[in-house]
Amino acid sequence: MSKAWEIENFLEVKNNQLHIDGVSAVDLAEKYDTPLFVFSEKRIKHNIKRLQKAEEGIDCPLQVCYAAKANSNHEILQVIRKAGSDIEVNSGGELQMALDAGFTGNQIIFNGSAKMESEIELAIESEIYAIQADSFYEVELIEKVAKSIGKRANVSLRLVPEIESDTLQGLQTALLTSKFGMMPEEALEAFRRWNRNDEFMNLCGIHIHIGSQNPKSEPYSDALLTLFENLLKIFNETGHKLSHLNLGGGFPVNYLRDDSHVKFMSEDQKALLSTDLDPSEIISNAWQNLKTHAEKANASNLLENIELLIEPGRYVIADAGICLTKVRNFKKRPIKQLAIGGQQFSEKDIISQSADHRPLTTDHWLLTDAGFNILLSMETYKWYYHLISAERAGEPHKTSYKLAGPLCDGGDVYFDIEGEKRLPDHRLLPESVEVGEILALLNCGAYSVAQMFPYNGRELPTILQISKSGTVKKIK
Ligand SMILES: Cc1ncc(COP(=O)(O)O)c(C=O)c1O
Repeated sequence: MSKAWEIENFLEVKNNQLHIDGVSAVDLAEKYDTPLFVFSEKRIKHNIKRLQKAEEGIDCPLQVCYAAKANSNHEILQVIRKAGSDIEVNSGGELQMALDAGFTGNQIIFNGSAKMESEIELAIESEIYAIQADSFYEVELIEKVAKSIGKRANVSLRLVPEIESDTLQGLQTALLTSKFGMMPEEALEAFRRWNRNDEFMNLCGIHIHIGSQNPKSEPYSDALLTLFENLLKIFNETGHKLSHLNLGGGFPVNYLRDDSHVKFMSEDQKALLSTDLDPSEIISNAWQNLKTHAEKANASNLLENIELLIEPGRYVIADAGICLTKVRNFKKRPIKQLAIGGQQFSEKDIISQSADHRPLTTDHWLLTDAGFNILLSMETYKWYYHLISAERAGEPHKTSYKLAGPLCDGGDVYFDIEGEKRLPDHRLLPESVEVGEILALLNCGAYSVAQMFPYNGRELPTILQISKSGTVKKIK
């Protein structure tokens, strides 16, 4: 393999074309048209296996609960279930999708920051593993619904203990400033109020989700330790012995395996997107730290019969999805006329942005059919998806182009229009790319098709899945 983005037996160059699980991406684009999403069943299963492996490094059962919000396509949920994963949902709609995909109640946990009574009712009726209450008020609401239908609810409490992660501000969820969860004191109050034998309320766990794409492992250790300290306090003060701890999701994906663009991005963004942490290592380090503390506190017995839950979304599905797009328009523009934020580029900037260090005097624009209506985070979080030519994947990618999507919106571009270098200004592709060439955006499986919308009256793309045996199936 000669390209840094290649992955053996999954993403490969054959006959100069990108192949996904042995299938030519160009053939798929020609047959199904673009934009087109292609998912690999094999890769999804591989990713889940890597997460399940984390159980080897801890002393209790590990439940992998796939975060459905990352991609809730029916067929994909079925693949995930068959790979042995449980599931985390965020609404009554996702809960129903999980049930429709064959997950049983005891495989489902339900987050959400403003649950409706009807959603809570569905959760209790389905006897799910845990409704994760987001506030003290919500625990009371769950009790009210449980009483009204005469069934006991399994409930876990989501804590917001002020643990910081180095991810983007909008992706941090364990800070007091975040909208999620309740203070540990409120959780303790709930355990005081509903005793262990309460007829309608089974308070059975606590939960922390620190955020998404967390580039360092320490916050996970902090989070697990915080969960343990709360578990201990709850036991000492109320006698409740918890049956599970939930460490949340956010395990990072390396979006910059090919770092040819890296020098054009800010250090922070690079660090965030190029993380290559192994979830097994993150979890086993956090567990060892927890064990030491439990021994010191003479409380190891509280970890007997406990289960550890994790809620990975991105890690399962991001690199299993590829977006194929076609160049639909082309234009050239003198670079000096291009002012971003009212600022003209200096000659030095221009030289430094050219891949081969020749001064760029003309921008070559390629306008594709993949806009932010199908890859929303490219606009909201300036998320980087590596771009290659699917038709000429094996050729040197050294020519700079300015890339944009098809939407009638000036923000529908593949660079950081605010000039903060969260995305490279230019993308590198083979020379002489023309209208009609098929390109591929890699690592597009998470938070893409789950968020797409038909802005500008654009048809939503077809979604394909390549099965383990290599069969191509339309799944939307
Ligand atoms: C509560 C909760 N769990 C899990 C996840 C999944 O995060 P990721 O896809 O980064 O693993 C999220 C995502 O925001 C979340 O809010």
